[in-house]
Amino acid sequence: MLCQRHAQVVLALCLLLVLWQCFRAPTDGLGPFSWAPTLLAPSAARCTAGTRGSAWFNAHYNTAVGPLLTGTAHELSSDVVQWWLTLQGSSSGVHLQAIIQQLFTVLPAPAGSVWDPSRCRTCAVVGNSGRLNGSGHGLRIDAHDWVLRMNRAKITGFEMDVGMRTTHHFMYPESAVNLGPGIHLVLIPFKPLDLQWVASAFSTGELTHTYVRVKQFIKADRDKVLVLSPAFLKYIHDNWTGQQGRYPSTGFTALLFALHACQQVSVFGFGADSEGNWHHYWEKNRWSGAFRRTRVHNADVEFSLIQRLAAEGTILFYK
Ligand code: C5P
Repeated sequence: MLCQRHAQVVLALCLLLVLWQCFRAPTDGLGPFSWAPTLLAPSAARCTAGTRGSAWFNAHYNTAVGPLLTGTAHELSSDVVQWWLTLQGSSSGVHLQAIIQQLFTVLPAPAGSVWDPSRCRTCAVVGNSGRLNGSGHGLRIDAHDWVLRMNRAKITGFEMDVGMRTTHHFMYPESAVNLGPGIHLVLIPFKPLDLQWVASAFSTGELTHTYVRVKQFIKADRDKVLVLSPAFLKYIHDNWTGQQGRYPSTGFTALLFALHACQQVSVFGFGADSEGNWHHYWEKNRWSGAFRRTRVHNADVEFSLIQRLAAEGTILFYK
């Protein structure tokens, strides 16, 4: 009898431990403005708790810099254009305004505010790091209002760890993939040719090469395309990464986009795995270090910024 009672108590304790593991906060990065996330996304009420506002954060964050290219005349200053043209060695003789105008004859230009700034929006930014393998974060990721993915991110076969939903997919011509209906294709343009490519890929298909062969046509919802502004990339490069690396990575750019568009930002799939490998979660070869190997971005600077944002409670960082 006593033994049975004992077993019941042990069972109850085990159950409590399992529940606590499921509902506990992430292992690091909880600062003064933090809140305990549930198994699913935090509720709207918790959203307001993530107040941003350390002196460090405010010194870097600038709400006045809009993430999107809008197609209005002279929206890019000459210093932005000059810097942007160096990223992938573009000629300075291009007629950028004409290219942007042509782009917005094929795609709708953003009208007013694309997203309601007053809404409490929870967003999951899902990087492609191998540290997602075995994480079991799938349900938690999918419970956010927006799920941001990027480049060649895969879902099939990885649902338990990375989730199934996508609302925004960040890409550039050389990393482009087809998307399902209703998903925002978010173009990160690194050169004028990238703007020409997206216009071509949704219309004539005349552009098939940048510095490599690229998709001639793309299957995606044309009405949902968003194009990031070169000014936003320069802002990240100047204000956030302190001009380290040639330009910010896709993942860090998506994270900054989320900081400008969402009230609560959760970050998954960034950094090396527990053995120090920088591979992608779908790659068998963990030593490939695909992301870090390019050296175009400063992975260490970006990672330490993510850790600082997490430590201050501005983002939730799931390791
Ligand atoms: O390699 P790729 O650019 O497609 O990965 C998307 C983003 O995920 C990167 O830009 C980077 O910010 C992040 N990433 C990471 N650690 C990895 C792989 C990717 O932080 N091991």
